[in-house]
Formats: sequence, C-alpha cells, structure tokens
Amino acid sequence: MKETFLITGANRGIGLELTKLCLSKNFNVEACCRNPEASDELKNLSNHNPHLNVTKMDVTNSKSILSAAENFQNKIDILVCNAGVNNGKGDIFSKEHNENAIMEVMMVNVGGPFLTIQNLYKNLNKNSMSKIVIISSLMGTQTHLSNNAPIYRASKAAANNLMRTISNHFLNDNIIVSSYHPGWVRTDMGGANADISAEESATGLINHFLKLQKSDTGKFFNYDGKPLPL
Ligand SMILES: NC(=O)c1ccc[n+]([C@@H]2O[C@H](COP(=O)([O-])OP(=O)(O)OC[C@H]3O[C@@H](n4cnc5c(N)ncnc54)[C@H](OP(=O)(O)O)[C@@H]3O)[C@@H](O)[C@H]2O)c1
Repeated sequence: MKETFLITGANRGIGLELTKLCLSKNFNVEACCRNPEASDELKNLSNHNPHLNVTKMDVTNSKSILSAAENFQNKIDILVCNAGVNNGKGDIFSKEHNENAIMEVMMVNVGGPFLTIQNLYKNLNKNSMSKIVIISSLMGTQTHLSNNAPIYRASKAAANNLMRTISNHFLNDNIIVSSYHPGWVRTDMGGANADISAEESATGLINHFLKLQKSDTGKFFNYDGKPLPL
C-alpha cells in the first residue's frame, strides 16, 4: 500500500502544492487546515480523489488536533509540520513586533509542530519506518548577519532545536525526525519576487522525504536535499 502523508496548513502555499503533488503520485493525503469550508481548491480536489481526506485542524490547539485525529482514514507514514506564520518582517524597533504578533509566531511555528507531534504520535504507522518533518527556514540558522524578522528567525531556530530534541527522543525507534528549508518560495508568505515556485519546492521536498534514512534523523536539509547548518 502507498504511503500516507499528513500535511498541516494544506489549504494554500507550499502545503497545498505538497498535497497536489502527493495525490499526483497516488499517495494518500490527510490534508489538515484551519478552515476546510473556505478552501475551494481542497474541496475540488477531494471531490475527485478518494486518496484525499480533508480535516479541520488548528495546530495551536491540542483539542483541535485530537478531534482531527478522529477523522483520519489511515495511519501516518510521513507527518509534515508545514503550517507557519511570519507577521513581523521589520527589525527590532518595527511596530509590528508587538506582544500579540510575537505570541502568534512562536505559538504557530514552535508550539504548532510540538503539539502536532505530541498529539499525533499515536497515529504514526509503527509497522514501518515513519518520518516526521518540520518545515523550518534558513532564516533560523544561527550563523547569519541579518537584522530583520528577529522573532520569525528565533521561531525557526527554535523549530530546528525542537526537531533535534524530538529526534533524540525517538533515536531508538523506527521514527526519523528532520527539518527543511523549503527555499524562498512564491507563496503569500514568500511573495511574488521569491526564487522558486511552490511546485519546485514541493517536488524537491517530497523526493527527499521519500529518501530519508535513519542516519538523517536530527538533521536540517534544503528542499533539494543538500544538508544545512542548524
Ligand atoms: N514561502 C517561503 O519563502 C518560505 C521560506 C522558508 C520557510 N517557509 C515556511 O514554509 C511553511 C509554509 O509557508 P508558505 O509559504 O506556504 O506560507 P503561506 O502561503 O502563508 O501558508 C501558511 C499556511 O499555514 C497555515 N497556518 C497558519 N497558522 C495556522 C494554524 N494555527 N493552524 C493551522 N494552519 C495554520 C495557513 O492557514 P490559513 O490559510 O488558515 O491561514 C496556511 O495554510 C511555513 O512554515 C513557512 O514558515 C516558507
């Protein structure tokens, strides 16, 4: 039987493209998003594809994640923590970095993967090697000279650290935990001037997810599979 992917933030951007590409390769997809009713693309896709199951899920809320799990059709082989926000691109003195914005970015980008993995661990397919991947960002790397987006950068540094800690937890299990920079991608978040299309990013990501070996656990990769510094 083909693998099952679970993708968070599947209604637009990289998450939607990952969903479409998985379906085109006949994988099963548990596509999760905050508001399935508002996602015409996901609704259209699910009308035509028995391999797609769309579920309402907010990654910042354990109850929402647990009730989503009741609707899943398959055990998960590849859990993709993709949902993310960046609502502060200026420097430390930019007004956009207020308490609410800081809490939202930290809660979605760090709390989101944490709660998703904590609550969906039981849904992983334990009969074979399962994979947990966090879509992080090169902006989280510690060795940079930029002064913009301090909170987003910190959230992605924390997401990579979280990946490392969780990979250590599962070191002796049939579970690989890795994180990825998806590239600078033309989505609502990346903007129209970004380097690559969502399709190019998703194609590289899926190819590498499928190739992941146990020796890759705890590591951070570019979307094309090149290893990156944490
Ligand atoms: N685009 C880039 O250049 C780039 C570069 C590096 C890393 N990334 C990372 O790649 C991932 C995807 O980015 P993207 O470019 O596709 O962004 P996007 O187009 O802005 O989409 C973000 C997705 O996250 C979802 N989301 C936000 N908060 C959520 C929550 N609380 N619960 C569930 N879903 C939530 C959004 O759902 P709603 O529609 O409900 O808001 C949307 O589906 C993010 O983690 C981002 O940080 C992107």
